[in-house]
Amino acid sequence: MSKTRTLQTPYITVPQTQAQFPAIGLGTFGSDHVEPDAIAKAVRTAVEMGYRHIDCASVYGNEKQIGEVLAQLFADGVVKREDLWITGKLWNDKHEPDAARESFMQSLYDLQLEYLDLYLIHWPFPNYHPPKCSIDSRSPNAIPYDHQRYMATWRVLESLVDAKLVRHIGTSNMTVPKLSLVVRDARIAPACNEMELHPHFQQRVLFDYCKQHGIVPIGYSPLGSPGRPERDKTDHDTIDMEDPVIVAIAADHGVHPAAICLKWAVANGQVPIPFSTKEQNIRSNLEAVCSDPLTAEEKAAIDGIDRNCRLIKGHVFLWEGALDWHDLWDEDGSITTLY
Ligand SMILES: NC(=O)c1ccc[n+]([C@@H]2O[C@H](COP(=O)([O-])OP(=O)(O)OC[C@H]3O[C@@H](n4cnc5c(N)ncnc54)[C@H](OP(=O)(O)O)[C@@H]3O)[C@@H](O)[C@H]2O)c1
Repeated sequence: MSKTRTLQTPYITVPQTQAQFPAIGLGTFGSDHVEPDAIAKAVRTAVEMGYRHIDCASVYGNEKQIGEVLAQLFADGVVKREDLWITGKLWNDKHEPDAARESFMQSLYDLQLEYLDLYLIHWPFPNYHPPKCSIDSRSPNAIPYDHQRYMATWRVLESLVDAKLVRHIGTSNMTVPKLSLVVRDARIAPACNEMELHPHFQQRVLFDYCKQHGIVPIGYSPLGSPGRPERDKTDHDTIDMEDPVIVAIAADHGVHPAAICLKWAVANGQVPIPFSTKEQNIRSNLEAVCSDPLTAEEKAAIDGIDRNCRLIKGHVFLWEGALDWHDLWDEDGSITTLY
């Protein structure tokens, strides 16, 4: 057990259910280079410190190791199951309804839990790519968004809510045109949408759509994902934590620029899920959202540095014939279909 004091994680209310949602979570994607045991250890460190929200996914390949840590934390009396928020995600090659059910049950089994707090469809495409693949790799069966197929998967998620195996369901990597179709056709609406959100990529239109529809935006890569896989890096990418506005505000607060990105996330109304395996960073990330909020002027200054710089472009989910990664994101306001 960590010897230093436990911090009190702040909470927000989920509009759909009034559930209390820990306003910061620990990310668990090792970006193809951090081993599952190191991430499971980070989960233990984080929960001992006061984190109450863990962002998991089957494709991260570490749910079994995280499940062992969770079981141990419960057995040791560090935390009770009902005080944790555990998110899971369905991977792209498991969208077919029977496979989706099976994959959910496998995650539950691996995580050693009886229910999840949130289950997301990880990407809106049933397009598979193997871990650690190169940027040009294309699955021959990859297709653009198919709403009927997506809704068949969504019906499985709704049935998991009915069966009390999951408390909330949601989307990830969506666009307004796609999400509005899901909102229109869902029996149980998405409670959350996980999306890339950091000062240089604020996604205002999608963010506002979520807020207007009572959908909680969960912000992934909140620090600008400095450790993201090499395939996701380009020469045009900007670096949030080196932005002069962030650096100056960090100096005023006497903290690392990472803390300012997280203070901004919380002030903006999203739930950040920073990843770290370093005890010091795990702690300072939680501390950042527990104290010393930004002033209205500081928040406004960071609102003004959006660079529309998407870092997780998703190249590997493209279908044959697609032009480039922009095709995944419906940038002209309509869903991109086959050419
Ligand atoms: N839904 C999706 O499709 C999707 C996509 C991407 C990510 N995610 C989720 O979002 C989580 C976070 O995103 P991410 O991992 O891409 O990016 P991130 O949280 O923005 O960045 C993580 C990186 O920042 C470093 N870091 C963390 N705290 C720091 C601090 N206080 N000071 C300096 N450096 C710090 C970490 O290194 P150290 O380990 O050295 O601290 C790590 O390299 C993922 O783990 C995953 O759970 C979801």
